[in-house]
Amino acid sequence: MERLQKVIAHAGVASRRKAEELILEGKVKVNGVVVKELGMKVTPRKDEIEVNGVPIDKEEPVYFLLYKPTGVISAVKDDRGRKVVTEFLEVEQRVFPVGRLDYDTSGALLLTNDGELTNILTHPKHKVDKMYIAKVKGYPTKEVIEKLRKGIMLEDGKTAPARVKIVSGDKKKGTSIIEITIHEGRNRQVRRMFDAVGHPVLKLKRERFSFLDVGNMRPGETRPLKPFEVKQLKEIAVT
Ligand code: URA
Repeated sequence: MERLQKVIAHAGVASRRKAEELILEGKVKVNGVVVKELGMKVTPRKDEIEVNGVPIDKEEPVYFLLYKPTGVISAVKDDRGRKVVTEFLEVEQRVFPVGRLDYDTSGALLLTNDGELTNILTHPKHKVDKMYIAKVKGYPTKEVIEKLRKGIMLEDGKTAPARVKIVSGDKKKGTSIIEITIHEGRNRQVRRMFDAVGHPVLKLKRERFSFLDVGNMRPGETRPLKPFEVKQLKEIAVT
């Protein structure tokens, strides 16, 4: 048994002092229960410890890129029995997704057991670019594209500037293909942005997460990240 703050510090999530602050702030859970006092003893391999909702690492860190198919939940389990992203990997480590893609969205999704890197990559201050290809209804005008670029007022505030490009339009089907790059990660953000300008998304794929793209992969395929890719992702934390 070890003191909770020590276990958190050893997992590389935070310094001992910072770990104590996180506990006092109610950001630490042990076996699903928030723990706010500092003296608690835990068994690292048995007790489930979460910091800011992310399980801490007890294992060798592993990193994979999944081409998430549609019809899959970005979670490690689903109480409604739907397929989850971790089913596409056979590893003994307990990996989880870095952020989320909607059930109906396909594309690049990182899977790892590295809680520290997950916290970095999902923190808004690091502005990690995510590039999506959206098939939308209708033909957005230049003005609409400009609005999306500058930021759209949604119910949870204005979106940050985005890079947006019309790729093509299909006259017969009445649809367009748009490329959009955002660095925020709000819930259903791309869909809500296009809804707000009257061009609902019919199909959505995340082509790229940071510099990692699903280019030649097939839906459902996973690949381990190369060491230089992991290194490059970690560098995002210091830039
Ligand atoms: N934006 C969305 O609307 N859905 C996703 O899955 C990701 C970004």
